[in-house]
Amino acid sequence: MPVATQACMKGLTAQQVESLGITLLLNNTYHLGLRPGTATLDSAGGAHRFQGWQRNMLTDSGGFQMVSLAKLQTTTEQGVEFENPFKPGERELLTPEESMRIQHSIGADIMMQLDDVIASTTTGPRMEEAMLRSVRWLDRCIQAHKGHEAKQNLFAIVQGGLDAQLRDHCLTEMLKRADDLPGYAVGGLSGGEEKGIFWQIVSQCAQRLPADKPRYVMGVGYSEDLLVCVALGMDMADCVFPTRTARFGIALTFDGPMNLRLKHYENDDRVIDESCPCPTCDSGKGLKRSVLWMISRGKETVGAHVVTLHNLMYQRRLLLQAREAIIKGRYPEYLRTFFRRYYVTHS
Ligand code: GUN
Ligand code: ZN
Repeated sequence: MPVATQACMKGLTAQQVESLGITLLLNNTYHLGLRPGTATLDSAGGAHRFQGWQRNMLTDSGGFQMVSLAKLQTTTEQGVEFENPFKPGERELLTPEESMRIQHSIGADIMMQLDDVIASTTTGPRMEEAMLRSVRWLDRCIQAHKGHEAKQNLFAIVQGGLDAQLRDHCLTEMLKRADDLPGYAVGGLSGGEEKGIFWQIVSQCAQRLPADKPRYVMGVGYSEDLLVCVALGMDMADCVFPTRTARFGIALTFDGPMNLRLKHYENDDRVIDESCPCPTCDSGKGLKRSVLWMISRGKETVGAHVVTLHNLMYQRRLLLQAREAIIKGRYPEYLRTFFRRYYVTHS
C-alpha cells in the first residue's frame, strides 16, 4: 500500500495512482480527523469522494502518527492526548471510540484499531502495559464498530515489542476475538530494531494468525524486507518509503536503488528500467536518466512526480511477481533470482 497521508499521494493525482494499477492506499485518521474533519468528510460522502479515489482505502487509527508527529503527547487508559498542531495550546483526546467515529466518517474499507504505540525497542513494564492496553482498546473498538461490520472491515494490531512472550499473549487474546476481526496487523516494528529480531517477531505472528485472513505488517517498505515478510507469511504492508525516497531523487529498481542525482547519470541515455511500463520509463521510450538527473537536482517538482510514478510501479511489479511465483510454487526461485540481481555490485 502506498501512503497518502493527507488525502493525497504526495505529487500524484488519484487518477495517476489508479492508472498504475494500485487498488489500495493508506490514509491517516489523525490527519483527516483534524483536517478536513468529520463534518466535511460527512458532507463530501467520505474520504473516497473527497479525494476522488475510486478504489480501496485503509486508514491507520492515529496512535502511531501521534507518536511520530505530535508534541506533548500523553497516553492514559482513556486514550491519547495531544496538542492540536493547527491550534497551538489546544489539547485533543483521541480515544478508541473517537478513532472509530472518524474512520466511519472517512468510510475506509479497512479500519485499524487504536493501539498504544511506543518505541519498538522499549522493554519492561511499559511494553507490557502497551500490549495489554492495545487488547483493551481493541474491545472498545469492536464495540464502537457494531453495526458497521458489513461496510467496513476492522483489523486488530498485535503489539508486544520485541518480546516473544508478550507477542504470544497478545496473539492469544486477539485470536479470541476472531469472529469480530476480518484481518490482523502486526505493529510495533520497523522502529530501528535489528533485522534478526524483526523477522523472528514477524515469523511468530504470521504462524499464529489465521492464514485465511489478511496478515498485514505495518510500516515495511524496503524490497528485501517485503520479500522476506512475504516468505514468512505476510500479505500486506505499507510504507512511505517508495514515495519519500522518490522525492530525494532515488529510483527503486531490480538492480537496487538508483540515486539519480549522481553525476554519472548526467550523460546516461537509458531510461531507469527498460522493462518498466510506468509512464516515466514507458518500456524504454520514456525519460532518459540524463533528463531525470537534471530535473531531480533542482527545485523543479516534476522530478519528484516522475520518480514517484516509477517507484510505485516498481513496488507493484515486485509484489505482483512475488504473487505469481507463489501461485506457481516457485517463490524460493524468485527470491534467489531477485537477491542475486539486487545485490550485484555495479561498476
Ligand atoms: N504503523 C507502523 N507501525 C504501527 C503500529 O504499531 N501501530 C499503528 N497504528 N500504525 C503503525
Ligand atoms: Zn518506471
